[in-house]
Amino acid sequence: MAAGTEGSETESQLRWLAAHLLRCGLLDVDLRWDEAAGAGLPGTISFGESWSAGVARLERGEPVQYVIGETDFMGMRFFCDAWALIPRPETELVVEAAEAFAREALAAPYGTWPRPLPVLDVCTGSGCIACSLAARLGDAASVAASDISADALALARKNATALGVGVALRKADLFEGVAPASVALVTANPPYVSSADCDRLPRNVRDWEPRLALDGGAGGMEIISRLVAGAADVLLSGGRLVMEIGEDQGPAVRELLCQERTTMRMLELRRDFAGRDRVVVAERLPR
Ligand SMILES: C[S@@+](CC[C@H](N)C(=O)[O-])C[C@H]1O[C@@H](n2cnc3c(N)ncnc32)[C@H](O)[C@@H]1O
Repeated sequence: MAAGTEGSETESQLRWLAAHLLRCGLLDVDLRWDEAAGAGLPGTISFGESWSAGVARLERGEPVQYVIGETDFMGMRFFCDAWALIPRPETELVVEAAEAFAREALAAPYGTWPRPLPVLDVCTGSGCIACSLAARLGDAASVAASDISADALALARKNATALGVGVALRKADLFEGVAPASVALVTANPPYVSSADCDRLPRNVRDWEPRLALDGGAGGMEIISRLVAGAADVLLSGGRLVMEIGEDQGPAVRELLCQERTTMRMLELRRDFAGRDRVVVAERLPR
């Protein structure tokens, strides 16, 4: 593969673009590139144009996932566009913690939890959390998802359709319109970067990913605070909130849950692959 720019980050993005255009895995790019060169593919007008256009977009700093229009999450392929955050590997931890609780609830004696298990993913963006849970839990759960952005919801709908999973999608400001004590499991990866830090994010994030998906207001805690209070209202007794947070927000979220001590309690603060605080698991106390 002809890499026009230096740097391992750039090279891996070029490889990703090539894999997409050559319709092969990342490890097969060199082989497919040479085979395709033999068959004249990289010299064809359509391939050449797609490659040049893709490289030009990467050179402008656009994330490769937007350039190729897709990414992998939980072993599935999700469409990506500039209206929603690109699903991140650490968000898979939210799905894993949520699925563990759902399986526990589904194994409980009949009548303990409503069936199918009501699950709600707020701030759904591309729908990656909701679609993954719907795919993993099948008919045992009824997964709903919402976002304040109609454009993000359109992407989530496209992903749910392509993956063949049932997710009830709705435009809403957090829990707007959700009945009290009606949900067993709430998942969320809310915007949690402080407004000040948003301006200091790496350029490929700051200039390309939607501010609405990133900006958590002053201290990054505005949406998280509303989310914790709203979850206490919509969750059934014993239900769970599984939420992604910023690496430095563990103590503040713990404090927030302490303030809600009659309604919620922190069960767990999970770390990500880099050992940073990343996912909060909290329980709705009995009403
Ligand atoms: C960090 S992105 C997460 C997207 C997706 N869940 C993921 O993990 O990749 C946050 C999402 O929250 C949405 N959002 C921001 N404010 C919201 C609000 N008040 N109510 C509902 N959704 C909101 C944004 O539109 C964005 O799609």
